[in-house]
Amino acid sequence: MTDQTTSARPLEVEHDAAELRCIACGAVRAQGAHNLRCVKCGDLLEVLFPDWKSGRAAGLDATELKELWQQRRTSRLPIDESGVWRFRELLPALHDWRQAITLREGNTPLYELPGCARIAGVQQLYAKHQGMNPTGSFKDTGMTVAASFARQEGFRWVACASTGNTSASMAAYAARGGMGALVLVPEGQISWSKLSQALDYGALTCQLKTDFDGCMRVLNEVIQQKPVYSLNSVNPYRLEGQKTTAIELLERLDWQSPDHVIVPGGNMGNSSALGKALLEMKELGLISRLPRLSVIQAEGANAMVRTMREAGGKSLISVQAETMATAIRIGSPASWKKAARVLNATGGTVEQVSEVEIALAKAEIGADGIGCEPASAVTLAGLKKLVKQGFVKPGELVVLILTGHLLKDPDFTLKFHRGDLFAGTRHEKDAGILAVQKRAPIVLDASADAVIRALEKAERSRS
Ligand code: F0G
Repeated sequence: MTDQTTSARPLEVEHDAAELRCIACGAVRAQGAHNLRCVKCGDLLEVLFPDWKSGRAAGLDATELKELWQQRRTSRLPIDESGVWRFRELLPALHDWRQAITLREGNTPLYELPGCARIAGVQQLYAKHQGMNPTGSFKDTGMTVAASFARQEGFRWVACASTGNTSASMAAYAARGGMGALVLVPEGQISWSKLSQALDYGALTCQLKTDFDGCMRVLNEVIQQKPVYSLNSVNPYRLEGQKTTAIELLERLDWQSPDHVIVPGGNMGNSSALGKALLEMKELGLISRLPRLSVIQAEGANAMVRTMREAGGKSLISVQAETMATAIRIGSPASWKKAARVLNATGGTVEQVSEVEIALAKAEIGADGIGCEPASAVTLAGLKKLVKQGFVKPGELVVLILTGHLLKDPDFTLKFHRGDLFAGTRHEKDAGILAVQKRAPIVLDASADAVIRALEKAERSRS
């Protein structure tokens, strides 16, 4: 028998220094949280690890990294219990890891979706459910890293513009880290669940009379004038944390790449982060083959789809966004350039789906016992189209990234099952196809007879 205690690698290793590089002009500067854009040209920054040129991270090769990350699964240290910090060799280093603000984010399940696979026409379909994070969305994986850097740099306030999930997540991590949270959300355009989270976590929550893009404009002015740190996904540290979704996925698949990873697109931070992780894992020899990373948007908020199709990913085509999937109701995605790069590098594609297609796909994911919020369901709706087009082959392994929990938007779900989601809208005429998934709640007398009659009727329609 081998002695585990003596053969085990120490859980702490030396970490490589990271730099920040401008994605447009390439100007490089040392790590530090203060400026989120390039001081020379104003474009976005990304985290770079110059020491990886050797094909090693933190001095470890691919096999050693895999072993170390496995070994940490048995550790009780908060940063090892986090599904983000467990992979810290691939993250920028904090001065003191024990200062990470963590809610044990990540560690999300990979579910098989047999019903959805049949509907979409593929043999193997999985969902990586990021809605199973502490505040119910994928945002937590990025927030733990960016909030920790904010605190390290001494910021007393953090802020974001949001369609709801970023604000819920930021408010939670700010509260845990003892920082103030300033939330800017478009009035009347985010779900009550998300708004109520920000309130409960103690954020200063401002509902602005504008849309998400308007909130971003206001936030940019505020951060010019006040020592407030932006935790929107233009923050490169957010994307570093969000990379771990892809790392965790590949670890779960024994480092065998799926053929396709499909993700919803809004501000385009998440797809950029997942793509960066895939490319870095390839560079470090953790995987031998890149999956294709594809982005799906709502037809009414399709800036990235148009940017890729009409401008070859070279210039942003903004749109006036409108969709019931409020999380992705974004017309000018900030990270479009980063996303265009990873779409091209992985050979992925873009697709758009209608409001009715989103609603149907959401109910289908629910019927597999999983559930998600509307924005996440664009992935299945998009997959169906990609299979029809032949871009995804029936025998290929596909992973959908579900970004938010079903309970994030109960209004949408209730309206769907009551049948009034599209009442009075221009989509009403197409909504007939939703009937198969509709399960309206029924009001009955308080008698066993009435319930048994309902049960027998349901039993007949099942068989
Ligand atoms: N899915 C959900 C549930 C989201 O909340 C978002 C974005 C996206 C997908 C799109 O991700 O922006 O990285 O392309 N929500 C942001 C917010 C904008 O403020 O919560 P993205």
